[in-house]
Amino acid sequence: MQYSLSHQNTTKLLKTFFSLFFLYLLFSYSASASVDSLYKTNCASCHGNKMQGGLGESLVDNKWLHGESDEQIFNVIKNGVANTDMMAWGNSLSAQEIRSLVIYIRETKYQSELEQMNKAVVHKNGQFSAAGEQFRLEKLDENSAGYWGIEFLPDNSYLVTEVSGKLWYFNQGIKTEIADIPTVWHRGQGGLLDIALHPDYINNKLIYLSYAQSDDGNKAMTAITRGRIEEGRWVTDKQIFKADTKHHLSSGAHFGDRMVFQNNDLYFSIGDRGNKEMAQDLSRPNGKIHRLTLDGDIPSDNPFVDTPKALASIWTYGNRNPQGMTLNTKSNKIWSVEHGPRGGDELNLITKANNYGWPLATFGMNYNGTPMTDKTSMVGMVQPIWHWTPSIAVSSIEFYHANAFSTWQNKALIGSLAKEELRLLTIVDDKVTKDELIIKGQGRIRDLKVAADGSIYLLLNSGSRSSRQGAIYRLVPAGK
Ligand code: HEC
Repeated sequence: MQYSLSHQNTTKLLKTFFSLFFLYLLFSYSASASVDSLYKTNCASCHGNKMQGGLGESLVDNKWLHGESDEQIFNVIKNGVANTDMMAWGNSLSAQEIRSLVIYIRETKYQSELEQMNKAVVHKNGQFSAAGEQFRLEKLDENSAGYWGIEFLPDNSYLVTEVSGKLWYFNQGIKTEIADIPTVWHRGQGGLLDIALHPDYINNKLIYLSYAQSDDGNKAMTAITRGRIEEGRWVTDKQIFKADTKHHLSSGAHFGDRMVFQNNDLYFSIGDRGNKEMAQDLSRPNGKIHRLTLDGDIPSDNPFVDTPKALASIWTYGNRNPQGMTLNTKSNKIWSVEHGPRGGDELNLITKANNYGWPLATFGMNYNGTPMTDKTSMVGMVQPIWHWTPSIAVSSIEFYHANAFSTWQNKALIGSLAKEELRLLTIVDDKVTKDELIIKGQGRIRDLKVAADGSIYLLLNSGSRSSRQGAIYRLVPAGK
């Protein structure tokens, strides 16, 4: 008797509990729950607040019972694991929500992995040791405003752009400002951006500058001008690229831009300018990588010259904000790195007419932790060669072909802003086989270049978004 009473009570209790739980579920799944609350509500009870495990597996220990790819993790969450406490969430969570949980797991896992990576970087008495080399960081310059691009001249002196619209010349420790730089639109991420030498600079002394350009002071787009430095002044030779005023936007976001030369063509990137859907629109210059002749004309074999309404300068599209781009001089291939939203920073191999997917397919989610899409790939779109989820805010890329750091030869140096990292990617047959940390927490890396002597120059920016300070560091082998 007593037993059956208590049994009834339990059943009642369970019933009430389940109906309350059901109401709770209805509430918590409404519209765009952020990923933190999705996780805390549904998963933390078993997997732990920090994913360290409990009733359920640890999700940060790099051991995966059901596979480690994004797709496999996605499927475990969606379908559950039969005969275990891991239920199928596919009916109560949308595909996008599950996708954002996968990214969230990656973010949390990254934090614990980074501790491991940090241990591999030894920093003692100003000497670093990482990725098989020993080196030290030498500070060459400090500047009251942020820097953006650095380029060496044949005599090892170098030019550095300041985003506020200045150009600096450094020669044997002496810094001079170049006068008469074209007016730039300095707002948000806009300003004076990249600098590159004409492939035949030795003979013609021509230099390309990319910058945010405005006609009315209110709206802007990325542009490129070309000129020479004569007796300490900039003398413009030719406007190489300028978007039609109708394409200018008031947003201060995502201008790109890096410039690269390959086989005597100029390639340059323009970010989506904060208007993601425009990256898929071939009538818009933003969210693209463009290709022009050295004089700014359209090469006749550009992919969209015959496509109605398309801009003939477009080489690739679906690019979110490629701020790093380089030619691997050994393979003659162009590589770019682009910022993802939250997660989904990409390394891409840039080839003709490709659609890189943004914003339809991405490994990232919205900054507020709500899902963007559950698609990481789509038919007809190109996958990144590598992606960083969570984002490191990838800004720059350069292949190392010098001798000073022999173990780094043929590998790609990658700079990051938000995570303040310098990484080294080993790439074999266009696949990344290793991603190592070289330095961390020394400042936001905006650009990097390898000098003729094999040392690595870094442009660092610190401070808040509204008051960046620039610095130039040089990474040299220890003992030199
Ligand atoms: C009631 C407890 C419980 C809850 C709630 C739960 N899980 Fe699990 N989860 C488990 C258990 C137990 C396993 C291990 C299953 C097995 O033995 O294969 C697991 C496995 C997993 C795995 C696979 C791990 C691996 O090693 O491959 C993932 C990913 C995962 N859960 C994610 C989630 C997410 C995301 C949520 C929330 C939407 C969630 N889980 C909610 C108990 C739970």
